[in-house]
Amino acid sequence: MNRADRYCVIGNPIAHSKSPLIHAAFAAATGQALQYDRCLAPLDGFEATMRGLIDQGYRGANVTVPFKLEAARLATRLAPRAQAAGAVNTLIFADGEIVGDNTDGPGLVADIVRNAGVALQDKRILLLGAGGAARGALLPLLLQNPRQIVIANRTLATAEKLVRDFAAHATKLAVSGFADIEGGFDVVINATSSSLAADVPPIPTSVFHPGTLALDMMYGNKPTVFMDFAASHGAAVRDGLGMLVEQAAEAFALWRGVRPDTAPVLAAMRQPQQ
Ligand code: ATR
Repeated sequence: MNRADRYCVIGNPIAHSKSPLIHAAFAAATGQALQYDRCLAPLDGFEATMRGLIDQGYRGANVTVPFKLEAARLATRLAPRAQAAGAVNTLIFADGEIVGDNTDGPGLVADIVRNAGVALQDKRILLLGAGGAARGALLPLLLQNPRQIVIANRTLATAEKLVRDFAAHATKLAVSGFADIEGGFDVVINATSSSLAADVPPIPTSVFHPGTLALDMMYGNKPTVFMDFAASHGAAVRDGLGMLVEQAAEAFALWRGVRPDTAPVLAAMRQPQQ
């Protein structure tokens, strides 16, 4: 009997993950026979759990909080964008190798460019935050050839370190504290985790102008406080659900060689009760 190829999302906690729903929809739409489960790894047992999955014949995995850095260390080979991100959200098990990739940043870019219809070339981008989420976004954003990316963070030193790590792109990058951000931006991306605490980074409202796209990487049942703040100052707003679906599509494409159509899945997930 032919068994479907197996994949999973591994994290802790994991019960809330929407990835199984998304990948099941992609598999159905593309006619790919695969099984995709949730896998809860103990906080001190990521590597052992991964080895167990490989032994069971799994073909790949998505990795989520808090294991993305550990996944990068476990990989025997890293894609350049995972290397730049310092984190892995997609693993491919093939030919005895554990290949680590990161589709979070490409998912963000796909959501902005394809779904929101905002080209990034020559645009001025404000990236709020300098943690893992911001780091993962940086190289894919730079590859779109924006005019400038200003990285603003509560802790300035962390933003400065991030720019040092991307020294090859120094002419395109600038660092700022929240209060000192100057000028208006075409795209403002909230890559801080402030929305989890219902906080808004204290940035000048002059960063927004009509036509600014403001995207929060977080999502929930209602707009985040950052989205409400940006909308009240004239920006068009998006949450992180599109990025979630797009990063999944990029991972699916890496595993299966076919990129699913994301629009119907995103539309279904936007329905209440999903
Ligand atoms: P993630 O993987 O989600 O990026 P992280 O690496 O812990 O998580 O980074 C969290 C980011 O959110 C950091 O940029 C953090 O700012 P600091 O470097 O100053 O800690 C930012 N952050 C978290 N809570 C915040 C808040 N309430 N207001 C503003 N920034 C916040």
